[in-house]
Amino acid sequence: MLIKPDVVWDSFNSVKSDVAKVIYLSPQGKNLSQGKVEELAKEEHLILLCGHYEGIDQRVIDKINPEEISIGDYILTGGELPAMILIDSVSRYVDGVLKKGSKLDESFSNGLLEYPQYTKPEEFEGMKVPEILLSGHHKNIDKWRRREAIKNTYYKRKELLENVNLSEEEKEFLESLKN
Ligand SMILES: C[S@@+](CC[C@H](N)C(=O)[O-])C[C@H]1O[C@@H](n2cnc3c(N)ncnc32)[C@H](O)[C@@H]1O
Repeated sequence: MLIKPDVVWDSFNSVKSDVAKVIYLSPQGKNLSQGKVEELAKEEHLILLCGHYEGIDQRVIDKINPEEISIGDYILTGGELPAMILIDSVSRYVDGVLKKGSKLDESFSNGLLEYPQYTKPEEFEGMKVPEILLSGHHKNIDKWRRREAIKNTYYKRKELLENVNLSEEEKEFLESLKN
């Protein structure tokens, strides 16, 4: 079962604008990445086209010519959940969605996975928050966080490090993890 082209064409025409960028959520698209999310957040108007059943008649896809974006190499029954994922990730960059001063420097924003995070209490089940985080020494804390992010990325998603600019000191630190 396929979605008919005239139905999609009519609904597209009811929402289109001169500035609209049209995305077709499709398993055949490029995988969504944080870089793409940031790029889409700069658009003034996004139109998200979702298929269902086996998809959409190819003629209307060719006519609208949307960018195809996938949320991963697996098949879902419809594009609704991928659209929600795209909306959630993009809207974090829209003014007013997150509280002012909220972090946008989470995993992927600088190419690395995030460093480990801790909150109260200072001790949980015999495990303490790393002392450096209680020191109040911001420069040392930043350095510790950057190293932990490198370490986290190295152990969990090594391949991401290929596209990250590391200082000489950080490169040495990375080498020390390999030994
Ligand atoms: C069952 S899928 C159609 C799959 C299509 N026949 C194919 O093999 O490429 C139905 C709809 O779900 C959505 N969809 C399924 N998996 C998706 C994914 N990984 N990313 C984005 N959208 C997906 C798309 O909108 C698609 O048109």
